[in-house]
Amino acid sequence: MSTSPADPYAALGRAAAHAIAYRRDIAQAERTPTVDYDAIHALFDGPVPQQGENGDAIIEELATLAQPGIRASTAPRFFGWVIGNSHPTGVAADWLTAAWGQNAANVSAAPAASAVEAVAARWLLELLDLPREASIGFVTGATVANLVCLAAARSEMLRRRGWDVEADGLIGAPALPVLAGADAHATIFTALKILGLGARQVMLIDTDEQGRMIPAALETAIAGLDVPPIVIAQAGQINTGATDPFDAIAPLVAAAGGWLHVDGAFGLWAQASPTLRHQTHGIDQADSWATDGHKWLQTPYDSGFAIVRDAQAHRRAMAISASYLPPADAGQRDPSDYVIELSRRARGFATWAMIRQMGREGIAAMLEQCCAVAAHVGEALGRIEGVDLRAPVVLNQAILRFGDDAQTLAVIAAVQADAVAYVGASQWRGEWVMRVSVSSSATTMADANLAIASIARCWEAVRKGVA
Ligand SMILES: Cc1ncc(COP(=O)(O)O)c(C=O)c1O
Repeated sequence: MSTSPADPYAALGRAAAHAIAYRRDIAQAERTPTVDYDAIHALFDGPVPQQGENGDAIIEELATLAQPGIRASTAPRFFGWVIGNSHPTGVAADWLTAAWGQNAANVSAAPAASAVEAVAARWLLELLDLPREASIGFVTGATVANLVCLAAARSEMLRRRGWDVEADGLIGAPALPVLAGADAHATIFTALKILGLGARQVMLIDTDEQGRMIPAALETAIAGLDVPPIVIAQAGQINTGATDPFDAIAPLVAAAGGWLHVDGAFGLWAQASPTLRHQTHGIDQADSWATDGHKWLQTPYDSGFAIVRDAQAHRRAMAISASYLPPADAGQRDPSDYVIELSRRARGFATWAMIRQMGREGIAAMLEQCCAVAAHVGEALGRIEGVDLRAPVVLNQAILRFGDDAQTLAVIAAVQADAVAYVGASQWRGEWVMRVSVSSSATTMADANLAIASIARCWEAVRKGVA
């Protein structure tokens, strides 16, 4: 039997107090977890509780137990992966989302959640300057956005060849060639596996030194096909930040009658900045685009957008119908028509709130600031003896090599231990590099300089053999 407190809502106030204190504190310094996985697992572990407990006390204990193992990925000097800031306004909207407990499947179940998605979808198309007729599914992230977009691509490409994949599946279906850049993100292959298109069946197209698809190589590959392909391109390579040359690629795909999909988890956002969008020029000619809210729109996790030019193909691949689910009236939009799930979180509230929070100009300024910080870190460190900036900083990523593989990994470990900034490790062209990803609205040039000083100190120590 539950020992509920007099005020069943006290837990909410306690969580808010902890959340606010945490967010005020982490702006001060990078903090790596002080407790390792096994230790924290032991703290949480125990027998299945027999009796219910006091919610307020549970939340207090949760905060105390978890905090030493919370990686400070919203801190301004967190450069480990492309993780946005989970901006406080987005978090607050997300708290309300949870409190309202809406099941954002359809208009009947969740009228406000459905309406806010429709508005946020329109705003996203305008900010990213994509075809206004495109439809958007509000999903968990770019992984699922890639999956949803490629499901629409599969549906449409097979429909054009007289095959109904939704009804008849893939057994006996016409062959459907898939082409992707050789530096495509791992989640593209996840999507292809799930869709039955086979990760190993993909024809990889050669890329240049920055990881961009080479148009001539794509042209040659397309010329060898006898049916129209799905071509998967990329905006924002995870190591270099580079974007495929869409002006050259898109006409080749269109001439072949193919479907061009863009994985733009963070790179698609270059479209929202007047000074960065030359990089994505021509991207609006694609057929589908996957991107994240939780990276460069600064929404809390999880948030991604599956954007499909042909809304009918999008719905055909995704829509669920059942007698107990009343369809939306004409002119209304059921969110579940564009995503995999039926029951789902109302992600539109946080998206709407974050677009309001920054506005068009604030979004552009934040994107440009992240890129300026990445360029400053990359160039400043690249001037130090023994440090090699491995690719020009064209967006928000800087990859650096310190001496050899072992020294590079040692510097990364030393920087993580120094806990002024958090940087990650990655491999680029077969060699280990330090990866500095800048994607938080909280990061300033002062943070960049603190990080540079820490990294330079650590390199000096590694070089002298004292770290
Ligand atoms: C280019 C690219 N595609 C896809 C993904 C997967 O995105 P998510 O982790 O949000 O699902 C990422 C994540 O870093 C990415 O950088």
